[in-house]
Parts: sequence; C-alpha cells; structure tokens
Amino acid sequence: MSPSLLLLVLLLAATAAASTDDSSVSVMPGCQRSCGGVGIPYPFGIGDEACFRQGFEIRCMNNGSAGGGEIPVLARTNQTIPVLSLSVAPLPEARVLLPVAWQCFNSTGGRTGFYPGNVNFNEAGVYRVSNIYNELYVLGCNTLIYVKGVKNQGGASRFNYKFYSGCVSVTNDTDDPQDGACAGLGCCHVDIPPGLTDTTISMFGDGYWSHADQEFCPCDYAFIVEKGSYNFSASDLTTHVPSNQTTPQRVDWSMPLRLDWAIRDSDSGSISCAQADI
Ligand SMILES: *[C@@H]1O[C@H](CO)[C@@H](O)[C@H](O)[C@H]1NC(C)=O
Ligand SMILES: *[C@@H]1O[C@H](CO)[C@@H](O)[C@H](O)[C@H]1NC(C)=O
Ligand SMILES: *[C@@H]1O[C@H](CO)[C@@H](O)[C@H](O)[C@H]1NC(C)=O
Ligand SMILES: *[C@@H]1O[C@H](CO)[C@@H](O)[C@H](O)[C@H]1NC(C)=O
Ligand SMILES: *[C@@H]1O[C@H](CO)[C@@H](O)[C@H](O)[C@H]1NC(C)=O
Ligand SMILES: *[C@@H]1O[C@H](CO)[C@@H](O)[C@H](O)[C@H]1NC(C)=O
Repeated sequence: MSPSLLLLVLLLAATAAASTDDSSVSVMPGCQRSCGGVGIPYPFGIGDEACFRQGFEIRCMNNGSAGGGEIPVLARTNQTIPVLSLSVAPLPEARVLLPVAWQCFNSTGGRTGFYPGNVNFNEAGVYRVSNIYNELYVLGCNTLIYVKGVKNQGGASRFNYKFYSGCVSVTNDTDDPQDGACAGLGCCHVDIPPGLTDTTISMFGDGYWSHADQEFCPCDYAFIVEKGSYNFSASDLTTHVPSNQTTPQRVDWSMPLRLDWAIRDSDSGSISCAQADI
C-alpha cells in the first residue's frame, strides 16, 4: 500500500471512529469490525494477519466470568489487558485497563510480596503512555515511588535513565488519610513525563521507607491512570490487600489508562511514511 493510500485508509478509519455504529468502522475486507461492543478500526484488527498492522493485533476473548460475553484484549502480552476503546482520530489512542502495582509488608517491615506492574503490553513499541491524559498515583504511608523512562546509553552516568517522576506519601496517623484528599497523607499524585513506553513502577521497600509498625497501612499501591477517573478513598489503603502474595502476582484491581499509538520509525521514534508501506 502506498503512503498516500495508507493515509486515506487512516482518514476513513478516523471518520468511522467518530461514529458509534460498528458498520462504519473502517476495517480490512473480511475482517471483524467489533468485539464486545468496542469498534476495532484498522490498523488494529482481529484474527488473520491481513486484518492488522504488526503490533496492532487485538484478540477477542471470553470475559472469563459466566455470562460475561466477549471482550477485546491486547494480543501478544503475557497477561490479559482489556481494551476499553480504540480510535484513529481525532486522537490515535487506545484506552486499556492495566493492573495496579503493589508491595505489602508485615509488622516488622519485612516485604511479604510485590508486583511492579510490568505487563509487557508494548512489545512492538507502538504505544506511548499519554502524559497529557494520564497521571501517576501513589498510595502508601511511608512511601517513595516513581516511574522512569528512556535508558541512557553506555558510559558511567549519575543517572541510568533520562527522566524520573514520582512522589512521596507519608503518615503514621490512621486519621490522616481523607477521602478525596490526595496531597501526601496516604496518597500523592504527579504528572508524568512524556515518552513512557511502559508502566513499570520503581518502589522502595526497606531502610528509610520502612513500614514497620504500620499495620493500618500494610501495602503501597501505584498506578498510572486517566486524569479525573480516580478519586482517593482512605479505605483503598486496606481493602485491596492481595490475599495471595506470591511474587509477582497482580492484584484484582486495575485502572483505565490512555495510550497514544503511532506507526513509528524504529530509530527516531517518529512516524515514517516509508515504513508505513504494507
Ligand atoms: C466480565 O463480565 C462480568 C459480568 O458481566 C462483569 O462484571 C465484568 O466487569 C467483566 N469483566 C471485564 C474485564 O470486562
Ligand atoms: C512473556 O512470555 C514469554 C514466553 O513465555 C517469555 O519469554 C517472556 O519473558 C515473558 N515476558 C514477561 C515480561 O513476563
Ligand atoms: C516479616 O518478614 C521478614 C522478611 O520476610 C521476616 O524475616 C520476619 O520474620 C517477618 N516478621 C513477622 C512478624 O512475620
Ligand atoms: C508509628 O506509630 C506506631 C504506633 O503508635 C509507633 O509504634 C511507631 O514507632 C511509629 N512510627 C514512626 C516512624 O513514627
Ligand atoms: C471525591 O471524593 C470526595 C469524598 O468522597 C468527594 O467529596 C468529591 O466530590 C469526589 N470528587 C470527585 C471528582 O468525584
Ligand atoms: C498463589 O498464586 C500462585 C501463582 O498464581 C499459585 O501458584 C498459588 O497456588 C497461589 N496460592 C494460593 C494459596 O492460592
């Protein structure tokens, strides 16, 4: 397919995405238009290789619970990552549900389990975590957690990554965390830097950030989430403690997040028409 033809296909798909009617979602001939009520516009696609561009494969799978029906999930990941919506325009965007990262401690501060949220959703590198529409939340009571991105190449560097972004949440008073208040007492949140390609969270577990004698707040949680869709509740500090703390094990708690996608030049990270040939 020529670059201009590809552009046309994407524009058609864009027009289609604005409509809620499945029949107008632009797909390759003979390919599935939707799954579980979610339109699957090209370059996304289900099934045959001709239905999607490399890196944009979607699987339509049984929801898992009885009577749950089918749901779309990202293909080629090691875990189930439900897709909430896919669009080509006005924003090339995928909204997905990703599991919350956590770590828990016992009364003497020993770490009993953790899950850093590394779900490997971006094997083909087509996604970036939108820094405009998402933010990082950290829940905990003696906690420093951050995300980091773009590894510095070679050489001795003071920093292994080009950027870090995170926040600190501290309290030793059970009455401090308040519903709706996320400003450092049991909860903090910050904007994230642009260019994140995954949602792996870096967590500190011992030493200065010890959770000894903090049974009222046994776990830390961290997640990148769509702005405006999470409202801190003090009970979140205690109601999501995973019953099975085998490591690593995702907890049954996930958050909606917005991913930008692009057809990228593998070197520069920009959109390349030359590589857009199918
Ligand atoms: C699966 O279906 C059940 C029952 O309809 C629903 O409660 C649950 O949220 C669904 N899960 C997903 C991941 O869509
Ligand atoms: C995903 O599974 C593949 C095949 O089992 C394995 O090689 C790879 O290391 C896994 N990746 C992650 C992030 O767990
Ligand atoms: C807490 O965990 C540490 C390290 O896992 C362990 O050595 C210690 O015995 C545990 N303490 C309690 C009270 O369970
Ligand atoms: C937190 O409070 C508990 C109970 O009052 C106390 O034992 C502990 O030393 C306090 N921890 C810190 C770091 O102040
Ligand atoms: C968040 O929760 C607080 C307390 O429950 C409530 O007052 C506030 O309106 C909520 N904010 C949003 C944006 O839902
Ligand atoms: C905890 O999860 C692990 C991995 O999924 C599983 O092998 C193990 O049996 C589980 N333990 C319990 C007590 O459910």
